Amino acid sequence: MIAAAVAHPNIALVKYWGKRDAALNLPAAGSLSLTLGPIATRTRVEFAGRPGADRFVLNGREETGAGAAKLSRFIDLVREHAPDAGAVTVESTNDFPTAAGLASSSSGFAALALAATRAAGVEVTDAALSVLARRGSGSAARSVFGGFVRMHAGTLPSGDDAFAEPMEALPMWSDLRCVIAVTREGAKDTPSTEGMNRTERTSPYFAPWVQTVEPAVVRAMEALRAGDFGTLADVAEASALQMHASAMAAVPGVIYFHGATIDVVHAVRRWRGEGLDAFFTIDAGPHVKVFVREGQRAELVAALAGVPGVLRTIETVPAGPARCVDPAAWQEAE
Ligand code: PMV
Repeated sequence: MIAAAVAHPNIALVKYWGKRDAALNLPAAGSLSLTLGPIATRTRVEFAGRPGADRFVLNGREETGAGAAKLSRFIDLVREHAPDAGAVTVESTNDFPTAAGLASSSSGFAALALAATRAAGVEVTDAALSVLARRGSGSAARSVFGGFVRMHAGTLPSGDDAFAEPMEALPMWSDLRCVIAVTREGAKDTPSTEGMNRTERTSPYFAPWVQTVEPAVVRAMEALRAGDFGTLADVAEASALQMHASAMAAVPGVIYFHGATIDVVHAVRRWRGEGLDAFFTIDAGPHVKVFVREGQRAELVAALAGVPGVLRTIETVPAGPARCVDPAAWQEAE
């Protein structure tokens, strides 16, 4: 009853922000993302086969209190289908910063969903695995798959149709790169669930934001299929700014931007005018993710290093789906 899995984080080109059901973690609208490596979460799960205390060791630190209770409730969703699995021990490591707005929950819950179902001997379809990962974190539903991934909002109260699906292979985008400009170290100010809840409850722009999402998903998919970088850039930047505008209009405002965040945004726009084809997106944290083609990656990385407030950059490439690996060598697994 041991299994291990590797999953990559994903960055949304069309954002998810808001839930239609908090308990089941159902999104208010769809979204569209790209799964990115080589950064990854690696997770080993072992069920004891008898009752006992669950243990969760994340990045070498034992989780306690509310964090551990949340993870136990997630594992209960697997134990419902494997009543004899018993207590669980989970060890997990991220090779990139955790809970900093760098999408660590996306790879974290995708890897955990895969390793836990495998360890418990629970057979799941890809869609069911995506549904399970969604219960941990909305964005994790997308990290089950590689490449460009579409998340469906679904309409069923059960949430069984709120899963992600990979787009067809789009080889003309294999040279797309995402460079993460890290602007602060440490955890983000407002966890995404809290930011979403406050936006839904208090922002006059939440409902109009939700209306923007499906048309943006359709336009982004058309741009991807047409190999149209310019349209993808327009859709992705608009989605990020519309998401943040709705969050900032909450009371009190949910503000993820710091000074350097805005400085990078202006720099990317200036560079674009000068022939560097790049576009940005921003999640529930202060960092800026900048997309560019491989041919201009080095130029972009050098330019980002020159923006005051950019502490460092993390370079990523399109990556594949979550997968099981040898539990005996899980920490080294590629
Ligand atoms: O599912 P969560 O809690 O990781 O929230 C994701 C929210 C954003 O990163 C801001 C947008 C997205 O679609 O990933």
